[in-house]
Amino acid sequence: MPKTVLTFGTYDVFHVGHLRLLRRAAELGDRLVVGVSADALNVSKKGRAPVFTQDERMEIIAALEMVDDVFVEESLDLKRDYLVEHGADVLAMGDDWEGRFDEFSDICEVVYFPRTPSVSTTEVIEHIASGGVSP
Ligand code: CTP
Repeated sequence: MPKTVLTFGTYDVFHVGHLRLLRRAAELGDRLVVGVSADALNVSKKGRAPVFTQDERMEIIAALEMVDDVFVEESLDLKRDYLVEHGADVLAMGDDWEGRFDEFSDICEVVYFPRTPSVSTTEVIEHIASGGVSP
């Protein structure tokens, strides 16, 4: 049986921290599935709409060589359902979520990776909005 790894995220304004997380996640198994959060979910979760739409963000993620399948994460409350539906053996997340998904360790292995330092979508947006002036 191929080992399936699942990860969730917004992946807006794609950057190297996203790439490294997906690479590390893919190395944990044979098949990487990515739940890309819906536009509406981001508005409620982060208080702003993503720069790129969910269709655009999914198109970018699906084009990556280490990604095998992509779906829209419509609700934060459906994580268990998504894990079961996609046959996840491993849930991999950045350590900004450390401990927050341990409740799923009854159905899959839960792994947290250290975030890549000094880069985030929020910081990229703020950097550009400030005219490219470093903080
Ligand atoms: N991630 C990472 N290293 C970074 C930024 C993100 O490993 N420097 C990981 C997150 O931990 C998550 C995935 O990439 O598992 C998607 O993160 P996302 O929230 O979409 O990106 P951020 O850059 O954190 O976005 P924001 O600034 O809007 O919170």
